[in-house]
Amino acid sequence: MAALSETAPDIHKVSVLGKESIHCGFHLIPYISSTVLRTLPASTYVLVTDTHVAKLHLTAFEEAFSGSRFLTHVIPPGETSKSRQGKTDIEDFLLANTCTRDTVILALGGGVIGDLVGFVAATFMRGVRFVQIPTTLLAMVDSSVGGKTAIDTPHGKNLIGAFWQPEYVFIDAAFLETLPSREFANGMAEVVKTAAIWNETEFASLESGSADIISAIQTPSTSFAGRHIATRTPAQSLLLSVIVGSISVKAHIVTIDERETGLRNLVNFGHTIGHAIEAVLTPGALHGECVSVGIILEAEVARQIGILAQGAVGRLTRCLASYNLPVSLTDPRLASLPAARGLSVGRLLDIMRIDKKNSGSEKKIVLLSRIGATHEPRATGVADDVIRKTLSSAVRVVPGIPSKNPVTMATPGSKSISNRALVLAALAKGTCRLTNLLHSDDTQVMMNALIELQGAKFSWEDNGETLVVEGGEGRLRPPRNNKHLYLGNAGTAARFLTTVCTLVKQDQTPETATVITGNARMKQRPVGPLVDALRANGSSVDFLESQGCLPLAIGTGGFKGGRIRLAASVSSQYVSSILLCAPYAAEPVVLELTGGAVISQPYINMTIAMMREFGVSVTRDTDPETGKPLGVYQIPSATYVNPGDYSIESDASSATYPLAIAAITGTTCTIPNIGSASLQGDAGFAKGVLEPMGCKVVQTATSTTVTGPPPGQLRAIGRVDMEPMTDAFLTASVLAAVATLPPLPGRELRDGSTPNTTRIIGIANQRVKECNRIRAMIDELAKFGVETKELDDGLEVYGKSVSGLREGVSVHCYDDHRVAMAFSVLAAVIRGTILEEKRCVEKTWPNWWDDLQNKIGIQVEGVELAPSSDAHAGPSSSSPPEYDPSASIVLVGMRGAGKTHIGNLAASALDRKFLDADAYFEEKHAKVISVFVRENGWDAFRAAEKAIFDEILETNPTGHVISSGGGIVETPAARESLVAWGKSRGPVVHISRDIGEIVRYLGEETARPAYGESVEDVFKRRQPWYDQVSAHKFTNDVGAATRTEEEVARFFKDITGTNSEPATSPASDKRTYFLSLTYPDITKSFSVLDDVTTGVDAVELRVDLLTLSGDPAIPGSVPPPVEYVASQLASLREHTPLPIVFTVRTVSQGGVFPDDEEEKAFALFDLALRTGCEYVDVEISWPESRIKALASRKGSSQIIASWHDWSGDMKWDGAVVKEKYVLASKLGDIVKIVGKATTIEDNFALHNFATSVARKPGAKPLIAINMGLEGQLSRILNPTLSPVSHPLLPTRAAPGQLSFAEIQSALHLIGKLPAKKFYLFGSPIAYSMSPTIHNMGFEVLGLPHHYSLLETPGVDDKIRAALKSEEFGGASVTIPHKLAIIPLLDSVSPHAQAIGAINTIIPRAKPDGSRELFGDNTDWLAIRECVRKNIKNINGQTTALVIGAGGTSRAAIYALHDLGINTIYLFNRTIASAHSLARVFPDYGIAVVDTLEAFPGSSPSVIISTVPAFATTSTPGNDGTLLLPASIFSSEEGGVVIDMAYKPAETPLLRLAKQVSNWVAIPGLAILLEQGYLQFEAWTGRRAPRSLIEKTVWEKYQSNN
Ligand SMILES: NC(=O)c1ccc[n+]([C@@H]2O[C@H](COP(=O)([O-])OP(=O)(O)OC[C@H]3O[C@@H](n4cnc5c(N)ncnc54)[C@H](O)[C@@H]3O)[C@@H](O)[C@H]2O)c1
Ligand SMILES: [Zn+2]
Repeated sequence: MAALSETAPDIHKVSVLGKESIHCGFHLIPYISSTVLRTLPASTYVLVTDTHVAKLHLTAFEEAFSGSRFLTHVIPPGETSKSRQGKTDIEDFLLANTCTRDTVILALGGGVIGDLVGFVAATFMRGVRFVQIPTTLLAMVDSSVGGKTAIDTPHGKNLIGAFWQPEYVFIDAAFLETLPSREFANGMAEVVKTAAIWNETEFASLESGSADIISAIQTPSTSFAGRHIATRTPAQSLLLSVIVGSISVKAHIVTIDERETGLRNLVNFGHTIGHAIEAVLTPGALHGECVSVGIILEAEVARQIGILAQGAVGRLTRCLASYNLPVSLTDPRLASLPAARGLSVGRLLDIMRIDKKNSGSEKKIVLLSRIGATHEPRATGVADDVIRKTLSSAVRVVPGIPSKNPVTMATPGSKSISNRALVLAALAKGTCRLTNLLHSDDTQVMMNALIELQGAKFSWEDNGETLVVEGGEGRLRPPRNNKHLYLGNAGTAARFLTTVCTLVKQDQTPETATVITGNARMKQRPVGPLVDALRANGSSVDFLESQGCLPLAIGTGGFKGGRIRLAASVSSQYVSSILLCAPYAAEPVVLELTGGAVISQPYINMTIAMMREFGVSVTRDTDPETGKPLGVYQIPSATYVNPGDYSIESDASSATYPLAIAAITGTTCTIPNIGSASLQGDAGFAKGVLEPMGCKVVQTATSTTVTGPPPGQLRAIGRVDMEPMTDAFLTASVLAAVATLPPLPGRELRDGSTPNTTRIIGIANQRVKECNRIRAMIDELAKFGVETKELDDGLEVYGKSVSGLREGVSVHCYDDHRVAMAFSVLAAVIRGTILEEKRCVEKTWPNWWDDLQNKIGIQVEGVELAPSSDAHAGPSSSSPPEYDPSASIVLVGMRGAGKTHIGNLAASALDRKFLDADAYFEEKHAKVISVFVRENGWDAFRAAEKAIFDEILETNPTGHVISSGGGIVETPAARESLVAWGKSRGPVVHISRDIGEIVRYLGEETARPAYGESVEDVFKRRQPWYDQVSAHKFTNDVGAATRTEEEVARFFKDITGTNSEPATSPASDKRTYFLSLTYPDITKSFSVLDDVTTGVDAVELRVDLLTLSGDPAIPGSVPPPVEYVASQLASLREHTPLPIVFTVRTVSQGGVFPDDEEEKAFALFDLALRTGCEYVDVEISWPESRIKALASRKGSSQIIASWHDWSGDMKWDGAVVKEKYVLASKLGDIVKIVGKATTIEDNFALHNFATSVARKPGAKPLIAINMGLEGQLSRILNPTLSPVSHPLLPTRAAPGQLSFAEIQSALHLIGKLPAKKFYLFGSPIAYSMSPTIHNMGFEVLGLPHHYSLLETPGVDDKIRAALKSEEFGGASVTIPHKLAIIPLLDSVSPHAQAIGAINTIIPRAKPDGSRELFGDNTDWLAIRECVRKNIKNINGQTTALVIGAGGTSRAAIYALHDLGINTIYLFNRTIASAHSLARVFPDYGIAVVDTLEAFPGSSPSVIISTVPAFATTSTPGNDGTLLLPASIFSSEEGGVVIDMAYKPAETPLLRLAKQVSNWVAIPGLAILLEQGYLQFEAWTGRRAPRSLIEKTVWEKYQSNN
């Protein structure tokens, strides 16, 4: 070791309980070992640590202690180790290693290790010596000091323990260099807390030092730097002094109050509420994170009571936030935790009830009176109502006359002035004391950014009332570690900082950029024109995401100056931004404003006036001829000079609220520090708006007093241009809402407007503020029943008497402070008004609700909103409408998308009428549409079209499928009709089709009017409208029209809720499976789809794997477009009848979809619902509220709420899985949890978990799987929707996945799938193909069953024995037993009864569990299926011919009737048999014919022959055989012919059919196969592997013939 390190390190010692046992410094390991070995002699030293710490630091200790008996024991990290078991394990280790009473135990680690090892030491051999070597900040400043030790039990944390003082606590701050930053922040919460209650100086150094302190732990110290003062960096010194300071306070308190009576409670500041939060959020949130929020909430309690000033709350907030700690429950890090939904106010209060500080039922909270001091030297009792009000997210205002009338109050400092003053003071030379600075997000963000840019130093005086700014004279540096400056939603800060950052200079290369960014909303707010101007001036500014918005990367090339042109019609803040920085440009600046009217000139004037107060004079050019001021400003090069003191004027926009309350309640309010001399435009509100409304306004240069008329006597204003005070328009609007008296004389509107009209103009910019404020006011006023009208640059409000307004309105505030405060004015007179997001006022007036109550005298109550009301997503988030099941369905979509084709198919599937709105139109107007348009123009057509459409809907509300014209969505009125229909009357379906296909198709037809623009453009314009008016989407995939009809039927039956065969119900007893299709292009799967899906119940479309290119997807790359996914989905539907699992798997959950593309993911989920995917897999890591909103409109789809743990950390008996399960159960219809197995036991744990949750009432079906080879057992045992693979697939979807067949074999081996015996009963049957069909099926599916022939002349004992056997699985029945078998059966299907024959026996369970034998007939189903698949259209005119009158023809007739064929010709050589058969089915329209040469009606389009082939011929002259004339095939549309005889392969009938071009000939073998599949499916509940069986059977058949 180097010489230096051998000398004693520099140590700070802190004494606790009279002993200097706490030693603090850097790189202390050698010091620790030498001190311990020297002063604590022992036979054995045992060091206990956890695996994390061991990996990093154990070797160093082993080296340092070499030479003594030094044992180490490493345990798993985390709170779970702090248990009885954990204690026992250590004790066993000590005993096994024969440790005795003189052992010294060293606890190296965080609080977990300290608490646990301390407790072991306290009782081992009745107590042994121990040493704390804390390695987390929390352990250093908190848990290691005071001697408290403990373990947890399932009943709670720290319930068993002891006081046991360590011999030493060695605080080696170098350990913090390896500590994860979140753990560091965790400890900082305690550090900040300790300073806040005890020592303002310490607090101030924490406030200003965050960047240094964080850098001290982020920069690894090499060569033991810091061990000696000489090598200690300033940042290290600061870090150590902060730690020592914090420890000293705790040690002091502990020493004077060892047993925690009163004083010691002070260290519980933030912990009363913090602990309650922690109880809910643990383990997702750390203790310090919860305490951080608790500190703010408890400070707010003190503020509410009137003990603590807002300034202090602001300081606490900023300070904690600067250490990356959450400061509110809405912080996304907390709010996104699944457990966060348990954070109800009631729950938190409940938890607080059992706090040990309480006395009786009253809760105790440490109340701060200022930074560094508490209200009492102990915790103070606080009423529940007070706490509730602070905790609630919403407020209800209690209307009444302000009890403090007449009110005099100063409102918070102006935001505009505060922001400007901050920039000016920071850029200036010298020191400036700013008073009445607004403590808000905006100023906080601005200060933080200026600190990060090292542009100025800030400190507080007068208990935070005064901000002392030491200006940096415009010298700014890039933020350390390339940190991005996060500006939240602080618009002013963003605009000002954009130019400020161009001043950032970098001395050394490499050139870096300053990145400023914000939240999602900020990223939509424009800064484009400002950036354009700066770029044109030579600064380098890049948009990192969307053009024109944050985030920006601003280069260090400097600010050039000279002539700058700026478009200033969107925001005056661009102008101010440049003006403020202009003196520091390289050259004097001439700023020229372009682009029409400049917005908000007063703000520009304010900037210039303030610049003058900081020593820089701007001159504005004037027109030499007229003398009028021009939009050209000259700014000299200069350095600002701080004026020493600067008092910030109250915010005039904020002042409008108390003044408006005076106006609306008829009381008086004085604002003492804003008057006519104010720089703020909104200072004109009293004179410009309140006076004309009938208020008495007295304004001096520096004060304003308003007295309202008696309640109900406000006047409408007529027209008011609020351009000079745009922010105040919201306040004006709520007053106008109750202003019923006519305007003052001279202000009346003389344009026919009603006298209660207030027309506010000049405020178009308010559409691009925190929200679209004009829209917000219109929407929220409407809730009260107030009518308004939107104007281009404002709105009209029509006043209504207060008594006519709706009470109990819940106002959504759009996270906009002005919306919230404006509506609290209205709430002061209307009962029950709730402001939903009370915290949004924090932007400019954080204590508004407290001031409303304490300074104005209007009571405010806390309200907790029902969780559902957090969804403001509009109508789409409400639950799906319940329609009349027969409600007419409206189709919308592009011309050429196939509305008519699909509509017709849908109508026939649903047995409804199809109605084409275009045809209806042409009929009604007796004109084709193109002519109508030519004669009357498009507008007239659209109007007429809508009228007719409405008429169609009114006259055909049920029983129809209605196709609308493609352009119907072009007019808002028609869209409204459609939306209204979809909302409550019936479904609206968007029929969509690939635009390329549409163009190709439209190219072929000319009947309809031309668009006059490209079809693509029309498509682009209309597409969003179609989606807007429809809740369902059917993609017409014409290219692959193989099973369009079935798919149309499925889709439309689904949306009308008439599907008798819904998707596999996961609740049934049957094990279910789905196959993952892991293709980048799903069409590539079609060649094997039938084979690979054999046996499974659904297919999964892995949407995240799809790519436009068809190449394998790259994790995290751009997701596939929605339209592409729609077409892939549609093609898949065309190729499989199986339900679809629609899955978008994210990178963090094992897929490739980017984790941060929430919008795109939900657009895809939306598609899944619209297209009726049966299952939609949604990961529960997406925001809960979004999943809920999605689930609320899922229709017949089922949501699979899924969670995948790829870390392998999740334990099936742990807390995490429970938490995920609870959340997933809440969000989904099916829960899917996937873990990882490393041992076979992991599967047992999974199984135990699954069985225990399944026992709970109302448990949702659970898919629980372990990944990995070791997890295969879990796949075998999982009962519901187990994911399976198939050997023919290119890749397996997940490691350890098994095929369906593999799982079946495994189930058999473990006794869960007994082998069954199947038979064919009949005679002669030796050549039957049935054994081939079924045994092949069993084999392919991995089923252990066997099918064999049981040939008997009659129904005898052999058959009876077979039926009785336990192993009996089912039987086919053929001649001659089809009738004779019936008496042996327990029940027979109605079809078989009608046909009078059985061909299938199925054993099935009765409700009581016993077995019954059920007889069915699959022949008719096979016939029906083969006809249906091959015939184009069946209608009333369709006829069929059946040849033969035996048993099989009964099945044929039954099938034809079922298909809706009303005329069946029946021919039989013995005509009497034909007649007697016809009598069996009297209502079936059977016409017995005596010749095949001619028919009584139209020629048949279905022909079924049931006579043996050898008995027929197609060549005349063959006596004794039936001559089949070619004329039977004369139906014009062609048709289907089936010959039930299956020998020879080509019968005379089929040969004949093949000579006619448009007939489909079906051999008997096809029917045999089909009925065999149906039997197989009835027995096994699994789809037969059809194509494989078919191939094998045909091969065998051909080789036999
Ligand atoms: N006795 C008391 O007075 C008292 C006071 C406060 C808290 N506590 C207890 O302290 C415990 C929490 O302590 P904690 O926050 O230190 O948690 P912890 O001990 O679990 O440590 C946090 C994490 O950091 C890791 N870690 C520790 N030091 C590290 C280092 N230097 N480098 C890298 N990783 C490191 C740990 O392995 C662990 O994963 C709780 O059980 C709490 O009840 C006790
Ligand atoms: Zn704590």
